[in-house]
Amino acid sequence: MSLKRLSKLKIPGLKMPRVKMPQLKIGNSVARVPIVQGGMGVGISLAGLASAVANEGGIGVIAANAIGMLEPDYYTNGKEADKRALRKQIKKARSLSNGIIGVNIMVAVNDFHDLLQVAIEEKIDIVFLGAGLPLKGIPIAEIREAGVKVAPIVSSARAARLIFSYWQKNYFTVPDAVVVEGPKAGGHLGFKEIEIDDPGYALENLIPAVVAEVKTFEAQCNKTIPVIAAGGIFNGEDIFKFFELGASGVQMATRFVATHECDADKKFKKTYVNCKEEDIVIIKSPVGLPGRAIKNNFLNEVDAGSRKVFRCPWRCLESCNAKNAKYCISEALDNARKGKLANGFAFAGSNAYRVEKIVHVDTLVKQLKKEYFKMVEHGTVHLRTEFEEALKNFIALRDQYIETARKSVSSLKSELGEILEKGAVAFQEEYKNVMVKLDALKDEYANRLTRVNDLKEQLSRFLDTSMLKLPALAG
Ligand SMILES: Cc1cc2nc3c(=O)[nH]c(=O)nc-3n(C[C@H](O)[C@H](O)[C@H](O)COP(=O)(O)O)c2cc1C
Repeated sequence: MSLKRLSKLKIPGLKMPRVKMPQLKIGNSVARVPIVQGGMGVGISLAGLASAVANEGGIGVIAANAIGMLEPDYYTNGKEADKRALRKQIKKARSLSNGIIGVNIMVAVNDFHDLLQVAIEEKIDIVFLGAGLPLKGIPIAEIREAGVKVAPIVSSARAARLIFSYWQKNYFTVPDAVVVEGPKAGGHLGFKEIEIDDPGYALENLIPAVVAEVKTFEAQCNKTIPVIAAGGIFNGEDIFKFFELGASGVQMATRFVATHECDADKKFKKTYVNCKEEDIVIIKSPVGLPGRAIKNNFLNEVDAGSRKVFRCPWRCLESCNAKNAKYCISEALDNARKGKLANGFAFAGSNAYRVEKIVHVDTLVKQLKKEYFKMVEHGTVHLRTEFEEALKNFIALRDQYIETARKSVSSLKSELGEILEKGAVAFQEEYKNVMVKLDALKDEYANRLTRVNDLKEQLSRFLDTSMLKLPALAG
């Protein structure tokens, strides 16, 4: 750029952008609010909560785990009750919302494939598959035919790689999104007890690792695979933080329990509002996994060795040690859902003690958006200050450059003049010498040519007499 143009360069001012939450795109499903309401069994997230979240632009999720407990024949006809109840809840959610509805299914339950089949038949928008790796027996052709998206729930980059590689090799496709659930989540956790408080397993570390892992598959399969962060995300500030770390969406459960639309009894929701930080504990669930719950008398009694009376109708979970279990997890959670907390307990995320009151879903979503916008604004103000500082520095540098260039050009000019003058004199001298030399050479050449031509003539005359011809000589 020329000095003149540079000195006239105008730096444009910055306008504050209109802030919007980024959409969450999973294949052709586009959620205008990038929040997935985490599936919550037993019966905590059904059609009521799922449809309310979907109506706000998020993804509402029905938890399929032991959903048959809503039916009168669960204890005699467990599998059928599960299927029937799930179908009913999907249909109900569809009647209440045109938004995106998902189903959460635990891979470890014995009727996983039956529940998945119902979700496919009902053409659910998306299935979230957790508590185990969804590898074998996935009816991929039917899933694609029905337009159902699949999002496995993982707790490590390794698990994501395992699932994605297996799918790629065996199904020639990969899942459409992935939920990364960190150790601050509620319910059963995909971590060993010693890992739960280890910062190495924090969601803040898991997200970038899974994003990097999934990138390889995105490139190979030429598709975008959003990574959804879950576990301990409480407000808009947290949402902003995980977006900065590479997530494209968040999954939140604890916050949605304390809503009027949540399908659990009010007494269940009140346990969230009333609990303190020290009430939130890690329990060893009868299914062999650690889980996070709100401590109560039921859990204290179990801790003290008490064995609750329960019926196990059909061994719903393969990993459950039903014979020696002190209680049935599904029954305890179902009791809690119904508000019978003397015979059960509430699963909850690590931030449940921060919940202050029960609100409507739309109020909660509005609040989360507001907090998110505040963070964006804060970030924009910060960036703006940084930009203005850099701009000031740039202008100072530009002036310094112009000044230096001006000075240099005038001093260079005089220096160049001197060089040119010296050069011209020297060149003229040399030129003259060369010309003299050339003139001398020219004279000598002419003399020699004359001499050659003389000689040629003499020779021709001589040869004429001897009958030989000589070639012409160039002049
Ligand atoms: C009451 C409750 C029940 C849950 N049940 C399930 C479940 O059935 N299946 C599942 O995959 N995750 C379950 N979760 C985990 C949530 O879906 C979600 O990923 C997690 O709780 C997110 O963390 P947050 O609660 O801190 O927002 C449950 C969580 C809670 C609080």
